[in-house]
Amino acid sequence: MKPDLNFPRHCLGTEHFTLDQIAGLFDRAEYYLTHPKDGANASILSGRVIANLFFENSTRTQTAFEIAAWRLGARVSSLSIAHSSISKGETVLDTAQNLRAMGVDAIVMRHPDNFAARDLAAQIDIPVINAGDGTNEHPTQGLLDVFTMQRHKKTVAGLRVAICGDIAHSRVARSNIHLLLKMGAVVHVIAPPVLMPENYFTGKVQYFDNLSDGIRGVDVVMMLRIQKERMQQTEIPGVREYAFHWGLDHQKLKSAKPDAIVMHPGPINRGVELDAALADDPKYSVILDQVKNGVAIRTAIFESILGGGK
Ligand code: NCD
Repeated sequence: MKPDLNFPRHCLGTEHFTLDQIAGLFDRAEYYLTHPKDGANASILSGRVIANLFFENSTRTQTAFEIAAWRLGARVSSLSIAHSSISKGETVLDTAQNLRAMGVDAIVMRHPDNFAARDLAAQIDIPVINAGDGTNEHPTQGLLDVFTMQRHKKTVAGLRVAICGDIAHSRVARSNIHLLLKMGAVVHVIAPPVLMPENYFTGKVQYFDNLSDGIRGVDVVMMLRIQKERMQQTEIPGVREYAFHWGLDHQKLKSAKPDAIVMHPGPINRGVELDAALADDPKYSVILDQVKNGVAIRTAIFESILGGGK
């Protein structure tokens, strides 16, 4: 691949990607999706070392970054934070500088604080890839979600996409919305009023406080988990009441378009925001495609950031 010299050095959020950069990434992700085990790719990052620094739990994201790096021939060092010197009081920057001194070429970081990845990127001279910072952004998730929509619906422009659930605490929603608006989709956000921030993408998204109104006629429904770990106190009613009003099942999905797809970034709380039978119904659910596409998107990100000899 010819390196795009204007491609950002870091991947911190989705807002500043150009349409050309997104199209270029999606082309490369499509290639990696269709050539997952092509041995030729294993020389692209051979000899490089990528460090995974996860200050919050992760299943899909961390593993997908590892597999993506391996496919390009890079080695991955995944730090176990609980057993690292961070637990002895070392700062994130000190930890990162030590990794750099050992020859690490890029850092993938998930952190509970908003802008943690941006702040690290401003202070270190190796690329930083944001794997989720607090309630702010989760850029590679946004990219893999919109890539999945494009694969299923051919084009993102003109799509009607509903994002439903805990909007207030969702970095996934924000990263998706930046991309969807840029690419010409119409975005509905659906949330109980207590989980809906004020002035959210002011005037650019349509807010609904009712699930069936919000998903009427949409092409895509993305359900989000309630992020209890980020809440001060109980902001929401009990699980059964939440599921009754805000959970999606086959019956409620009928007000969306007949060929609507159902998405979820994981982890799913089955029977809360998403009915188990719908989550597993291949006629609508593309949840495991999202996971599969997540490896391809992260492979394309590593290639774009590190593949040009940077
Ligand atoms: C999300 C996250 O961590 O932001 N999950 C993910 O990365 N696939 C959403 C969540 O935790 O609910």
